Amino acid sequence: MSGGGESVKVAVRVRPFNSREKERGAKVIISMDGALTKIQNPETPKEDPKSFTFDYSYWSHDNFTEDSEGNLVADPGSNYASQRIVFQDLGQGVLDNAFKGFNCSLFAYGQTGSGKSYSMVGYGPNKGIVPITCDELFKTMAAAKQEVKYQVTFSMLEIYNEQVRDLLEKVNPKGGLVVRQNPKLGLFYVVNLKSVAVGSYAEIEKRIAEGTANRTVASTNMNATSSRAHTVVTIVFDQISKNESGQETKKSSVINLVDLAGSERADSTGATGDRLKEGANINKSLSALGNVISALADLSMGKKKIMVPYRDSVLTKLLQNALGGNSKTVMIAALSPADINYDETLGTLRYADRAKKIKNKAVVNENPMDKLIRELREENDKLKKSLTGGMMPENVGMSQEDIDKMKKEMEEEIRAQLMANQKAISDMDWDQKLEQQRAEDVSENNERDLTASRKKKEPHLLNLNEDPQLSGVVCHFLGSSETTFGRKDADPQPTITLNGLSIQKKHAIVSNSDGEVEIKPGSPGAKIKVNGIPLVNSKVLENLDRILFGSNHMYVYHNPAKADVPEGTPATIDWEFAQKEIAHAKGYQTAGSGLSKEQQRVQDQILELLPMVNEVNAVSEELNKHRSFEIVLISGAAQEGKDKETEVMVKMKNLLNENTWVWGRGKFINRRYLIQELYQRFIDGEDVSDVKDNDDPFWEPAEDVLIGTAHAFLQSLGYSLDFDDNITVTDFKGTDEGKLYITIKPCTQDGKPYTDEEYVDDPSELLGKPYHIKIGVINGDVHKARYSKGLMVKYRFYEETEYTETPMLTGTLSPEWNHNRIVSIPVVTQEVLDYFETGSITYSLYGHQENTAVDTKRKNLTTKELRQLENMQEASAKPILNKKMSVSFGPNGEDETTHLKSELVLLQKQYDRLRKKERRMQDICEEWEKKPVEDQQFLPFYRKVHAVAFSSGSRLKSRVQMVNKEETVSVYSFEIDHEEPVANQQETPTLQNGIQETVPKLQNDTLKTEVPKGTESKTNGIAIADTNENVPMTNIVKGAQESSAAAAANGNGNAAAGAGGGDTPKGKAEGSKACLVM
Ligand SMILES: Nc1ncnc2c1ncn2[C@@H]1O[C@H](COP(=O)(O)OP(=O)(O)OP(=O)(O)O)[C@@H](O)[C@H]1O
Ligand SMILES: [Mg+2]
Repeated sequence: MSGGGESVKVAVRVRPFNSREKERGAKVIISMDGALTKIQNPETPKEDPKSFTFDYSYWSHDNFTEDSEGNLVADPGSNYASQRIVFQDLGQGVLDNAFKGFNCSLFAYGQTGSGKSYSMVGYGPNKGIVPITCDELFKTMAAAKQEVKYQVTFSMLEIYNEQVRDLLEKVNPKGGLVVRQNPKLGLFYVVNLKSVAVGSYAEIEKRIAEGTANRTVASTNMNATSSRAHTVVTIVFDQISKNESGQETKKSSVINLVDLAGSERADSTGATGDRLKEGANINKSLSALGNVISALADLSMGKKKIMVPYRDSVLTKLLQNALGGNSKTVMIAALSPADINYDETLGTLRYADRAKKIKNKAVVNENPMDKLIRELREENDKLKKSLTGGMMPENVGMSQEDIDKMKKEMEEEIRAQLMANQKAISDMDWDQKLEQQRAEDVSENNERDLTASRKKKEPHLLNLNEDPQLSGVVCHFLGSSETTFGRKDADPQPTITLNGLSIQKKHAIVSNSDGEVEIKPGSPGAKIKVNGIPLVNSKVLENLDRILFGSNHMYVYHNPAKADVPEGTPATIDWEFAQKEIAHAKGYQTAGSGLSKEQQRVQDQILELLPMVNEVNAVSEELNKHRSFEIVLISGAAQEGKDKETEVMVKMKNLLNENTWVWGRGKFINRRYLIQELYQRFIDGEDVSDVKDNDDPFWEPAEDVLIGTAHAFLQSLGYSLDFDDNITVTDFKGTDEGKLYITIKPCTQDGKPYTDEEYVDDPSELLGKPYHIKIGVINGDVHKARYSKGLMVKYRFYEETEYTETPMLTGTLSPEWNHNRIVSIPVVTQEVLDYFETGSITYSLYGHQENTAVDTKRKNLTTKELRQLENMQEASAKPILNKKMSVSFGPNGEDETTHLKSELVLLQKQYDRLRKKERRMQDICEEWEKKPVEDQQFLPFYRKVHAVAFSSGSRLKSRVQMVNKEETVSVYSFEIDHEEPVANQQETPTLQNGIQETVPKLQNDTLKTEVPKGTESKTNGIAIADTNENVPMTNIVKGAQESSAAAAANGNGNAAAGAGGGDTPKGKAEGSKACLVM
């Protein structure tokens, strides 16, 4: 493909904010300037935005107004790109090329809700490129010269989960239509796809509506997510004319209009961890498309030897020509303007950027008619011959079975080819085909007209779909006195048949008595929700009430005769509103504004997952899988890691043995598609009861489960104090699951515990020093008996990347781990202190699970019964606790308690110390008073008081620590790096006074005169004792020596110790810097 060719044309278009984004005050991150599109990362507003250039950049975000008919029109002089402008640039080109006889393709790419369908199909009066192009096609034909005969045929298909559905057929074969390759042309085609002759724009419009209605019904019945489906509309446009030599020729253009599935990734991290990740095909076509585009882009950049992987998916097979062959191709990438979609939007821009590198070579497809027919006939003769004659060469080394299989496949292939050719020949009689169809359509047309007029008079239900394109498409009238809803295998047949999950044979009865319409369940337990609330008895319907049958059939009730709506009902009801209502009824609260980005994401994900969780629960009940699912929110604090945000996850529970698993969003979504697939097989009549564990999306090997987490806060470490506590382990709901006894002790390098004298008054004193901490997970107590199979705790400290685990202790609910570990911080930095101040250690308690144990009592109950039982137990156990979307994102209640407790312990310790200081000073004063006047030497007295009073505080680099707590005699140890001036200074020195100035004075004034006899004096540290007191010298000296070393380290050579009377308690004073014993 390299060299020559025409590049794929690429346009991007940014849509307005939707109501949710407006409500939340979303920020625009896209800007456009001519063909340039820029995107700003909202996380780094100071950085330059990333720029991309495309053939067209369409600003459809603002600067427009809605006119009285609902058309969005550009404000005067604004840059707003309306549907018409987009058509003029892109659609007109398609049209022109089609008339020239080129194949054309138009793709819309972008994440769900970004505006693909708006651009392609449009909404209401704002018609998109497809209808305008079709309209213009017929207008141009009408205006053209008469010698040319035009023939237009139309087909519409959908690719969902790698299966092709014909959207012009109500019923499709199991497993979808087959895709085959034409051996001659090498192109792929869909076998038996219906293509209809269309003679006017109105007919195309009608066919699109028909296709959309079929899509809606199928997606509702199969619980399929329409945003995961690709829709392909194909228009074959033939022009037959006579050339100069009078020969009839046919110019043929195939126009493919492709509305791709939403491009967002399910959540790669989750799905990659799943053992069944290969199973779901849901993203296969889209990722294959990405690979094809990349390969084609590389090819056109001159890279050689690249295989373009067209065969990897159904979509890329069918679009082979459109992508890398004979086609003029346009891609429109739809962009969301909102900051919250930054990642996806950037992804779309990159994708579009790659696509513009692709080069195609389109040629005019013009051939003499008789040649075309002749060739097809000759081809068919050949095929017929090969069917009858020995088409299979004898092959050595193949088993008979293989040969038979191969023969069969080849035969099928040939027959399909034969049929396709015959169809092509008969399609040439286009006029007859059109006539026939029109005759068939008469009754349908009448019916449509009738429906439109009945809607104005009769009460009716209009469907609501996740995809706004598919909403309001299905209508059920409730005019007769009784309308029944149920499965088609019911006897008698219901008025309206519904298929799919949780639909009972007799599901609902709607009665109409003089315009009063009442709904009630058709059989006990039939799942119906009205305005989000399960319907038990009956309810008179009011205009715009929302009704959910089973898990997927959602409708809005309309009563033209009584058009009033109950108070609080919005003017238009959309899918999101109906889902929020269901979520509210389940106890989840939603908020529109004032949410943080994290909360917005959590809320969106809950609303996304909730219907899916309901659905898989329904499948579990129907297939009796003994599993239940529920949404769980795991707060950042409960996850083992730094800066984690709240995660929306899904818990699966085995109802027979209570084993649980917690799945990430991606994994759950992946499983949900597999569960849908399994259910579809069941619906198609397959026996799925014996699916092997390994292939069963409901099955998962038993794994250790996170019972809950507990947190210990670390402020005490900032003061070199130890901390120990029985901390409560809570699960994600805040339920108390047990206790852990943990210890956190500052210690020496080899693990000797610090004594209290290591206490610092100000954490900054620790800066620059090494620090060692002994972390202990001593024992635990767990409530639930089923965890006796094994208990283990995991945690990480500070920036550790690896978890530390205790051993798994089995056979007990009170494990004694006695785990102790020393962690060393080589140098305490401010970050470390910040961690002490605000951080915590998260201890995750894991329980061992085994697959074997099954509760025999439960075995005889159905999944439905077990789930009901569980719901009842939960309801009686406690009110819904965590099911709030306005989740508190900080630590939960238990954490708060633990946090406060550790703060309290710290304050208590500080308070005790102050009390003791105070008492000590009182003692000194009393002693002084008791002394005979001649002994009342001021200086030693002052020094004593001062030493005690200022014995702490980082400013003075002093430490005082009570050494013995209990005894009546108080023993303090302290270290002073410098002293107050005594005589010449009234005030306590401040930093501003300068330490250097005061120190020499002290040395002169005090030290010389006050050093008592017998006190050893070192060059760098001097111990001072009150000579009146009888203190064992050894203690003083020892302390002084150490003090001097510390003082020396501080670059200041003073240490002072005053000594009081009494004994020095043994041991306790050890390690003190200098002792003041009283
Ligand atoms: N250019 C636009 N101007 C006005 N409204 C728009 C525009 N683009 C999209 N919208 C609105 O945004 C909503 C979502 O758009 P749309 O249905 O086209 O998304 P989508 O990309 O097709 O999503 P999905 O992948 O789910 O099919 C619709 O309500 C649509 O009316
Ligand atoms: Mg769409």
